[in-house]
Amino acid sequence: MANSIRYFVGNWKMFGVPSSYSIIEKFESHFRKDKKNNKKYKIIIAPPHTLLQDFSQKFKYKKISISAQNCHYKDNFGAHTGHISPYMISKLGVKYIILGHSENRASGDTDSIIKQKVELALKNNFVVIFCIGENKLEKRKNRTLNVLKKQLHNVLNKKLNEKNIIIAYEPVWSIGTGKLPTSAELAHSINYIKSNLSKIFKKRIPPVLYGGSVDSNSIYLFKNISVIDGFLIGGASKSPKNFIDIIKNFYK
Ligand code: PGA
Repeated sequence: MANSIRYFVGNWKMFGVPSSYSIIEKFESHFRKDKKNNKKYKIIIAPPHTLLQDFSQKFKYKKISISAQNCHYKDNFGAHTGHISPYMISKLGVKYIILGHSENRASGDTDSIIKQKVELALKNNFVVIFCIGENKLEKRKNRTLNVLKKQLHNVLNKKLNEKNIIIAYEPVWSIGTGKLPTSAELAHSINYIKSNLSKIFKKRIPPVLYGGSVDSNSIYLFKNISVIDGFLIGGASKSPKNFIDIIKNFYK
């Protein structure tokens, strides 16, 4: 069974300027009006670093939470030109952070770097949205479950605070491509992830989201897979209509 609250997380990647907060205001306005369903879900938006301070202040007392998209693997301050530490982001009032996204893995984040990031982010009281997922070649070679297992066990362990961890399963071949796993494949992978999580964390299994080409049409495919606890949405989270339609269609 899925956890009771569902997450709709928007990953803006390299998108957004200060005036883009009006997009999030539209999400909020939908949320406020959606009295029938709004207790069932939570919206989290991850703008780029440049907007974190401004948006986390603007949405401090509102219903939408703000997430960072990444951080450096060392904490506090240091000689790391162009980087920011989990400590620095935590001082902006940001509560969530996406780590291990495949685009960051592609530019050098290994499991051991991601492990350091996850541990530091938890130490700084973030809720971590930890991304895992197989690439096209791994899928073709039927290695999906092995890859997921390795990515989970290389980073997570029972000492971490499972209450502050959310997993996002994002098949790399599905991100931004319009290609989707079948319902059976997806249910199988998510159940496999959950069974591994239950081995790591005995008390509570973190929620598991799906990400990869989620939009207002593909959401119909996913809404009947009850083990999915929410969605990590890239492209479609930058437009008020697309993002709100995903939520509307999910609860239709
Ligand atoms: P997409 O991206 O929704 O554009 O496929 C998802 C992600 O990268 O998190």
